[in-house]
Amino acid sequence: MKEPEEAYCLGIESTADDFGVGISTFQGEILANISDAYIPEEGGIHPREAARHHAEVADKVLSEALTKANINPKTLRVISFAQGPGLGPCLRTGATVARALASYLDVPLVGVNHSVAHIEIGKLKTCTRDPVALYVSGGNTLVAAFECGRYRIFGETLDIALGNCLDVFAREAGLRHRQGLPLGAALEQLATKGEKLVSLPYTVKGMDLSLSGLLTAAVTLLQKGKHKVEDLCYSLQENAFSMVAEVTERALAHTEKKELLLTGGVAANKRLQTMLKSIAEEHNARFNVVPHEFATDNGAMIAWTGVLSYTHGLVTPVEESFVKLRWRVDKVDVPWLK
Ligand code: ATP
Ligand code: FE2
Repeated sequence: MKEPEEAYCLGIESTADDFGVGISTFQGEILANISDAYIPEEGGIHPREAARHHAEVADKVLSEALTKANINPKTLRVISFAQGPGLGPCLRTGATVARALASYLDVPLVGVNHSVAHIEIGKLKTCTRDPVALYVSGGNTLVAAFECGRYRIFGETLDIALGNCLDVFAREAGLRHRQGLPLGAALEQLATKGEKLVSLPYTVKGMDLSLSGLLTAAVTLLQKGKHKVEDLCYSLQENAFSMVAEVTERALAHTEKKELLLTGGVAANKRLQTMLKSIAEEHNARFNVVPHEFATDNGAMIAWTGVLSYTHGLVTPVEESFVKLRWRVDKVDVPWLK
């Protein structure tokens, strides 16, 4: 058992399809990071089904994390949870577990912003200090950086997220989750066999981008059956990633920051990494990809951001711990950066 005088935070992530529990020391050592994913039989995530999954696995994931960290729950100093943004039923399940645990242990509760947590764990794990962060996942696509006391959004999708765009196309193309391989990764494999660039919509509006027109056009061409599916996967990736890269490049140029941080589940994509690396190089910025375990949704990021929040005076009274489905990063207090 670890020494009881060491301070720990346990963080709960439940914004979408994963129920995750992480345990972090106050110095940022991650002692445990356990997740259990809800994988739908068919189609996308059904929020209530996912929430039911989270409630079913919560005690198992919690006890696995405590065992992995090898600490007595009584030594936990604070409980944090992802308060938003995310799917209502999923968020509420995680919040309920967090409230119960904090009340049982009689320790403070801290509500954490999921997107800020992605950036903070990314910084911790890549030793990055002040990056432009590109967060691309199934539910989010945004470029953010710290400026004037907050994380500001320098570009985002106006409609669907990048991962969602890839997943919907992959499902239309008949790809399925196999051996835990995400749909985006299956699409990436097919895309490497594509040879012909098919013309598809490219929509960047100011600092923002739109992916729904691209998805509709790609699906329509797929259904017409005149192109090889590999070529369509390749072309979809090239177009979508170029849009994301253009918006990211503008943020780098505007902020003149010298670090670029790529995170979220889509960060695993090698083609996206290559495009962003070359953009970072053009701007003399160091390029960092968050390690996969900490780039996808995980409890460790909530635990670590819980530590940052708590040690800078932020706690969330139970009566204010309602979930925030659309909590934007530019509305979050980040006193540890001031
Ligand atoms: P969030 O709640 O932050 O939106 P999420 O629930 O979508 O996250 P993540 O694990 O962060 O969960 O991201 C999953 C997304 O990442 C899926 O859309 C998946 O297809 C995509 N993805 C995973 N690996 C790859 C890859 N190699 N290439 C492209 N996309 C990928
Ligand atoms: Fe996420």
